[in-house]
Amino acid sequence: MDPFWDPRSRRRRQQPVVAVHPADGAPAADRTWPASIPAVAQVLREGIDLDPGVTFLVGENGSGKSTLVEGIAVAYGLSPEGGSRQARHSTRPTESPLSEWLRIQRGVGANRWGFFLRAETMHSFYTYLEENPSTGPEPLFHEMSHGESFLAVLETRFDDPGFYCLDEPEAALSFSSTLSLIAVLRRIADEGGQVLCATHSPVLAALPGATILEVGEWGLRPAVWEDLELVRHWRSFLDDPARYTRHLLD
Ligand SMILES: Nc1ncnc2c1ncn2[C@@H]1O[C@H](COP(=O)(O)OP(=O)(O)O)[C@@H](O)[C@H]1O
Ligand SMILES: [Mg+2]
Repeated sequence: MDPFWDPRSRRRRQQPVVAVHPADGAPAADRTWPASIPAVAQVLREGIDLDPGVTFLVGENGSGKSTLVEGIAVAYGLSPEGGSRQARHSTRPTESPLSEWLRIQRGVGANRWGFFLRAETMHSFYTYLEENPSTGPEPLFHEMSHGESFLAVLETRFDDPGFYCLDEPEAALSFSSTLSLIAVLRRIADEGGQVLCATHSPVLAALPGATILEVGEWGLRPAVWEDLELVRHWRSFLDDPARYTRHLLD
């Protein structure tokens, strides 16, 4: 059976990114960053197939999630500062060379639009959005709370079936807003879009049908939600917070 067959549209699904391959001349794993990160080294060695729909990257701080999301986003043609592929508001000096070492295999006839949402640069990005309105006036992002403005971005800019690269999008969001984000991601996937999302949120990662890749010293490996370290820690913490705080505060 063809995994890309979409019974609803009765067409082969044209996902924006089928796979990410190492580009000609990409370095092998070595001791220099970012090829020194195991997950990056794995992608430089064997590439990575991306499933249709939503893929989450989960793992400890420093495991390489942001480096991968940025490298793939920029290789796809998105601005390293965040925003859509047309957004070219400034260059980012801290950008890693990874994007130059990757080659994106696009779906045949797939949508080429995309959006890169990185938490640290949202503020400058709001200024850019206000100064470069897409269709009609933009909401006044600077006058909203962080979480409110974030949801406004989701609602005004996440309406194309393109490729969405998101880095910890839950950072600004309450529990119930994170649930709203699940619904946004599901809508994108249902409309033929694709999402690559780094997250620390067990709520977000619970999106049914999503692919989860656990990032760590082993590289990248498929995982199921119930078995994630993240989920087990939250479960046992909520069960008995004192078990954790005791050790910290003694
Ligand atoms: N510009 C940089 N130069 C050198 N090392 C970096 C740079 N940016 C990040 N790193 C290192 O790369 C590793 C992976 O970082 P990152 O991708 O941000 O991890 P994560 O998003 O999973 O927390 C970390 O050890 C980090 O210190
Ligand atoms: Mg990160």
